[in-house]
Amino acid sequence: MMPRIFAALGMIACVFGMGFLIMGPVASANPAPDPVYAKECSACHIAYPAQFLPKRSWDRIIGSLDKHFGENATLPPKSLVSIKTYLDGHAADASDPNSRIMREVAASQTPARITEMPFWTHIHGRLLARHAFDAPKVKSASNCSACHRGAATGHFGDDD
Ligand code: HEC
Ligand code: HEC
Repeated sequence: MMPRIFAALGMIACVFGMGFLIMGPVASANPAPDPVYAKECSACHIAYPAQFLPKRSWDRIIGSLDKHFGENATLPPKSLVSIKTYLDGHAADASDPNSRIMREVAASQTPARITEMPFWTHIHGRLLARHAFDAPKVKSASNCSACHRGAATGHFGDDD
């Protein structure tokens, strides 16, 4: 029994290790968030970095704020225009449709969450396998700041 468990763990570590090598670090390219976005979209969670989702995902989120993950997150039209401009301009595919963050996302896919993006699941695979996101202090994978102290200001690396 034991060797089989070790083999499985080794395989998991190998697959995710490889994912991380292919993806490379993505910790440090976060531009300073837009003040309107930072204010209006941080009431219930951190203002997530624009570059972690493609434009089409942000557009869908902004277009359906009345039904936002079970919450009504509607905003005045003026704020929305400014937020949409910011998110579109800094999205994962804003300057390069083949950016690292966009790897393995098919053109036909519109991920609803950062935590569904392949780059994210590759990096966090080991934690997912250990159900680390169910811990009482974390509660949800979306709760980035439970583990990343610098998340609110866009910092996700080891030193943050
Ligand atoms: C349960 C704790 C936990 C939560 C919650 C979590 N992360 Fe992480 N994250 C980690 C750990 C641990 C690593 C380092 C993984 C490794 O190196 O194997 C990491 C690594 C990362 C990295 C790579 C950093 C680098 O050095 O390049 C990014 C980017 C990241 N997380 C983004 C997020 C985002 C965005 C969220 C929320 C949507 C989030 N994380 C939620 C634990 C967490
Ligand atoms: C009224 C509260 C509320 C407000 C305001 C709000 N959100 Fe959310 N948001 C939520 C909830 C609840 C979730 C789901 C969290 C979970 O699954 O743990 C969520 C999740 C998200 C996610 C997915 C996170 C993941 O799992 O990868 C994104 C992206 C997001 N929100 C963007 C926005 C944007 C952009 C705004 C501003 C226009 C905004 N939110 C404002 C409540 C809110």
